[in-house]
Amino acid sequence: MATRALGIDIGGTGIKMGLIRSDGKVIASGEIRSPTDCQPEEAADLIARAAAALIAEAGVAVPVIGVGCAGLIGTKRGIVHTSPNLPRWHETPLAALLARRLGTPVRLLNDANACAVAEARLGAGVGRSPVIALTIGTGIGGAVITNGRVVTGRNGFAGEVGHMSIQADGPPCACGNRGCLELFVGKQPIIDGYLSETTWHIGSVPYELTSGDQKRLTPQILAMAAGKGDKFAIGSFQRAGEMLGVGLCNLTNLIDVDCFIIGGGIAQAGDLLLKPARDVLGQQAIARDVFLPPVVQAELGVEAGFVGAALFAMEDSWGADREVNP
Ligand code: BGC
Repeated sequence: MATRALGIDIGGTGIKMGLIRSDGKVIASGEIRSPTDCQPEEAADLIARAAAALIAEAGVAVPVIGVGCAGLIGTKRGIVHTSPNLPRWHETPLAALLARRLGTPVRLLNDANACAVAEARLGAGVGRSPVIALTIGTGIGGAVITNGRVVTGRNGFAGEVGHMSIQADGPPCACGNRGCLELFVGKQPIIDGYLSETTWHIGSVPYELTSGDQKRLTPQILAMAAGKGDKFAIGSFQRAGEMLGVGLCNLTNLIDVDCFIIGGGIAQAGDLLLKPARDVLGQQAIARDVFLPPVVQAELGVEAGFVGAALFAMEDSWGADREVNP
């Protein structure tokens, strides 16, 4: 197993990267803007240039690179089939594009899968198995981890928990399904849930915190408002949390998890979101009277994505696919 790797986390606004040791220590890190408007070749040039600069700055050899990216990721052949963050990319052989430029093997996996690997091995999931980790932000991603290893499924598509339908006749989702979990629990549903219950008015905490500019409203601001007792903000988190609880019931009924880890920006709302989720789990999970899995917040913060991608790349199972080995 490699003892060092570069991890890259391709997000919707930024690409974070870091050089990681096998014990998870970050040796060096950096960030560039996401080339969301670029075609894949040009984007690969930008990412490779930043990665090469970071490696040169750290002055160490990097035997392998791990890349996490949202969407349908073919882990075996290193393909981004589709990604919500990179609308121009279809069937993009990202691992090969980067490997060719950097002269280093590249492993690719889903962004939430990468975060989950890091949390399971170094964060809130240490000593627990199986674990399901969810990343809640604009969308919801997830992963099943057993004994520290991510279940990628046949192709790399496992863990798309945000697209588990919890309302068969619910609103349509961009993925083609209806009533997906991420339509009830992501960033926008929490904002919309607040605005649908109250009028935007001077004197309300969210109005004052955004100087009246509704476009600046975020779940973080609503969490602050909830902390000051705003009942509409509390209500919006409550409804989102209950829907999250429905999703968690389905997941533990399927996998019998030891622990749920909730990460991503929205998870910072803490118990505002997680308490209602735990309550629903406690009322509805089939094994509730025997074992109720804890629902805990992720511990690693914004570095989890690139740390997990690097740890995944270091795994010794790597090497079968010649296509992405230079
Ligand atoms: C995507 C996932 C991704 C998640 C978080 C979802 O909408 O389907 O692939 O992991 O967002 O970025």
